[in-house]
Amino acid sequence: GPRKPWVGGNWKCNGTKASIEALCETLNKAEFNPEQIDVVIAPVSLHIHMVKEKLKAGFKVCTQNVSKTGMGAYTGEIAVDHIKDFGLEWTLIGHSERRQYYGETDEVVADKVDICQKAGLCTAVCIGEMLDERKAGKTTDVVKKQIEAFIPKVTDWSKIMIAYEPVWAIGTGVVATPEQAQETHAAIRKILKEKVSAEVAESTRIAYGGSVSDSNCNTLIGLEDVDGFLVGGASLKPAFLDIIKSAL
Ligand code: G3H
Repeated sequence: GPRKPWVGGNWKCNGTKASIEALCETLNKAEFNPEQIDVVIAPVSLHIHMVKEKLKAGFKVCTQNVSKTGMGAYTGEIAVDHIKDFGLEWTLIGHSERRQYYGETDEVVADKVDICQKAGLCTAVCIGEMLDERKAGKTTDVVKKQIEAFIPKVTDWSKIMIAYEPVWAIGTGVVATPEQAQETHAAIRKILKEKVSAEVAESTRIAYGGSVSDSNCNTLIGLEDVDGFLVGGASLKPAFLDIIKSAL
């Protein structure tokens, strides 16, 4: 496709020092050219230092979250300044688990996009509908509202990647059908075209997330508007090597 593939492994709140050491060894078997694909790994924050040392060059290490505030008296936060200082290029923002369990609203997501844009940090912004919203035919409205919330904060679209993750597909084993994925990715691109520009719509990468596995990745990556994946469960397993390969 016209856009550089993006494959992320979101390890979520998983792993021990021992298990991630073994996982890094497994992942180091992956062969890819970082000029041609972004392979981005998001470990638990406490593990980032170790993972950055263990993974071979080419992998990019990413935070799962970023503070909406900067450095200072903000106990428990990790500021964009720390991420930049550490030499990381990417963060996730607005993952559905942050939205569901930690009260992260569209407004908070927008604040985080704003602070990352100002710092020049690349951002994977996560969006997606709940099952009842899909059943009610509201999927496009939901993703539109989520995207419109952060659009005004974006000054450099080359540093924005959108992860479309239908909430009902996350960790359930129920992957979106190719038709569902393509339809929503195309709808997202149309929103970008209408609300930003045709150029941004064409160049912005949209990754799919939600029960991606080594058995469905090849079909999904073949879809016109799917530029990669944000992988949870399967990113903790050797299957992630096949998922990277599918996107090469
Ligand atoms: O960030 C990753 C997504 O939440 C997908 O998770 O691959 O375990 O369904 P999953």
